[in-house]
Amino acid sequence: MYDELLQSAILAAKTAGKMIKDASRNKISLDIETKAKNDFVTNVDKASEACIKKILIERHPDYAVMAEESSSGKTIPPDRYWVIDPLDGTTNYIHGFPPYCVSIGLCEGIVPILGVIYDPTRDELFHAAKGQGAYLNGKPIKVSGCENLSDGLIATGFLFRDMDVMEQCLNCFKEVLQKCQGVRRPGAAAIDLAYVACGRLDGFWEQGLYPWDASAGSVIVMEAGGTVTNFHGGETYLFDRTIVATNSKIHFELQSIVQRFMPATFFQ
Ligand code: IPD
Ligand code: CA
Ligand code: CA
Repeated sequence: MYDELLQSAILAAKTAGKMIKDASRNKISLDIETKAKNDFVTNVDKASEACIKKILIERHPDYAVMAEESSSGKTIPPDRYWVIDPLDGTTNYIHGFPPYCVSIGLCEGIVPILGVIYDPTRDELFHAAKGQGAYLNGKPIKVSGCENLSDGLIATGFLFRDMDVMEQCLNCFKEVLQKCQGVRRPGAAAIDLAYVACGRLDGFWEQGLYPWDASAGSVIVMEAGGTVTNFHGGETYLFDRTIVATNSKIHFELQSIVQRFMPATFFQ
């Protein structure tokens, strides 16, 4: 049912991913612009976005596109639309610090129905479509069997723009850290979600994300047997900018901690 769409998204992600990797290997001069404090865009992000859009629009001219470097991420298109993060982990990329990736989702309203994430640093391609399971390099994946937060490895991302919630974030981090085996901050939200899906991580939470960071990863987590909600347990995580994704078994434990540190309406 989603075969043709998946093929297009995989082609776009791999083509852009190769271009991103080649650009880093060849050490072409990176042209870095500052969008906001600690928030960067490079010529490689822009070239990747152009490459992905060209492939998807040529193959599916009727679908709308929401892409990080050319959309606000606030208006929900009425019909199916692609959601593109042309380079997730730009700060990592600038520093030559893996991982970073390309993330392409397809959404209907606020629901992601298909997702592809390609990490060119490890040549790993994650994909899923609603009702069809989740895969890593073509092999089925599932979330971990971890039963308790105390046995879990958890990832997060720190806010770097909205410094006025720094205190809450650090307090939240402190509490999760005390209750699990360890917390990681890899630096690319799409990869964090993909790692929950394949069981390398047991859970992930972050505030301040946009739909392009989370759409592909969310459907991959859910198709691998995981659960994705906002900090308050609701399903509007793509646009409310708070997300918790887990192997399902530890969801309530993690979500009930993080919800205490972020008002439901903070980003609205
Ligand atoms: C960022 C990464 C990072 C997360 C940030 C995102 P970008 O995306 O996913 O892990 O903490 O919130 O903005 O800007 O590198 O595409
Ligand atoms: Ca991103
Ligand atoms: Ca990006």
